[in-house]
Parts: sequence; C-alpha cells; structure tokens
Amino acid sequence: MQPLLSVRNIRKSFRGIKVLEDVSFDVDAGSITALVGSNGAGKSTLVNVITGAIQPDGGEVRLAGRDLGRLPAYQRVRAGLLRTFQHPRVFGSFSVAESVALARTPPELERFGSSLLSAMKGKAAAPAFEPRYPIEQRLAGLAGIPTSLLSYGEKKLLMLSQVLALDGSVICFDELCAGMELAVVADVRHCLLSLAERGKAIVFVEHNLALVRSLATRVIFLNQGRVFRDGPVDEVLTDPEVVSLYLGG
Ligand SMILES: Nc1ncnc2c1ncn2[C@@H]1O[C@H](COP(=O)(O)OP(=O)(O)O)[C@@H](O)[C@H]1O
Ligand SMILES: [Mg+2]
Repeated sequence: MQPLLSVRNIRKSFRGIKVLEDVSFDVDAGSITALVGSNGAGKSTLVNVITGAIQPDGGEVRLAGRDLGRLPAYQRVRAGLLRTFQHPRVFGSFSVAESVALARTPPELERFGSSLLSAMKGKAAAPAFEPRYPIEQRLAGLAGIPTSLLSYGEKKLLMLSQVLALDGSVICFDELCAGMELAVVADVRHCLLSLAERGKAIVFVEHNLALVRSLATRVIFLNQGRVFRDGPVDEVLTDPEVVSLYLGG
C-alpha cells in the first residue's frame, strides 16, 4: 500500500550549517508517530519542510503519492497537510470564535477571506463558537475573548481547534502539549487518538516521554539532523544510545 506521507532524502542547511541530512520515512493513515530529539536536532525544521513553511535544499515530500514539490504551505493545507506551531501563532485582535470561524471558511470562499474578515469585525455579535470535539469545550467559555488575552496553553488549544476545523489527512503537532496543564494534556491525548482512529496520520514532536509512550506506536529519533533510530516506541526509547544522546548520559 502506498504510504500517506512519504519524506524522502530531505536536506536543509542554514548559512552553511547542515540542519537536516538525508531524512527519509513513510507514514501511514491512522498512525501516530512521535518525533523525538534534543533541542536543535532539527525537529521543527523537519515539520516546517513537510508542511511547506520552508523549502528543503534537496529531497521530496509526497502526500498520497503526489510530489508536493515547492507547493506553498497554504496549498498544502488545502491538500490536507495540517500543523500547529511550536510557538503559538494567533491573530491578536481576533476573538477565539472568529479565529476558528476563519479556519472553517470553505476553500471556495477563501478568496473572499479579507472581506469576510471585515464583515465579521463589523458585526456587533461575535460568531457562534460551536465545539465539535470535547477538547474544544475548554475554549467555549472564551469564545468572545481576543486571542491576545489567551494564556499560552489556551493559544495552543486554539491552534488545535483551528486544525480540527479543517479536514486534514496528515497533522503535525510541534510540541503541542508543552506548557499545558496535565488535565488538558489528557484531553488532548484523547483528541489525537480519536483523530488517528478516524484515519488521520499524526506526527507529533514531544519531549514528554510518558506522553510519547501513551500515544505513539512509533518513534523517529532525530539526532543532529539525521534519523538516528526509527521503530517501535519501546525499542527506540530504551535503546542505550538513544538514552545516552537524549538524556546526555
Ligand atoms: N530559520 C533558521 N535560520 C537559521 N537557523 C535555523 C533556522 N531554523 C532553525 N535553525 C537552526 O537549525 C537547528 C535546528 O533547529 P530546530 O529545527 O528548531 O530544532 P528542534 O525543533 O529539534 O529543537 C538549530 O541549530 C537552529 O538554530
Ligand atoms: Mg522545535
């Protein structure tokens, strides 16, 4: 069977410094893969390359067999490749409800995006925010609040909600749960599991190894821009070399 996402021989340097070297892996529909590695290992750069935020120096990203080439990020979103950012990105003056409504704007209305925005800003009443997933209940009471006033964890929930508003097939989460309260992390975990059950491929960058163990079936361990290990969670996370590199032992 053809993999849903195929990453082939990705290379990327910044100012002559190699950040990704020959990174290759495949991801199937319905799978949950954790990207683990020390700070600076290249995890976010890899997510950026996959989702089109930056272009690689070499290699390919294929979605359902289609080479995405230099397709920009917004077109990858339309193709079903979604992500959240390590550092929350929100539109400060927009409310939570407006931000989610924007994400839910159907592609055929997208070119009217700016007029839609001004129309929305002109309205006295904020658009309704109707949670579709249990995790979104945590944002329901904040629907009318400008996103700039959200806490760090709430901004991350908003990014998750925006991803949930779109019907992606591959979703990359870059340290989504970092800085979240434990109870929220538990709800996010359920949300990600249910996405995978519905056939989405989940790729998530995470430092919390307990969460990695309870979510992922597979770990890709990146070290200095290379795939150092790729295999079942227990195998990779107990690998002495991985332990030594990751924990600096
Ligand atoms: N836009 C950029 N310009 C220059 N260097 C960058 C840029 N993005 C990342 N880097 C460098 O690439 C390396 C890997 O960064 P990153 O992918 O963010 O690692 P990780 O997410 O694993 O912590 C780091 O040394 C970082 O400083
Ligand atoms: Mg990172």
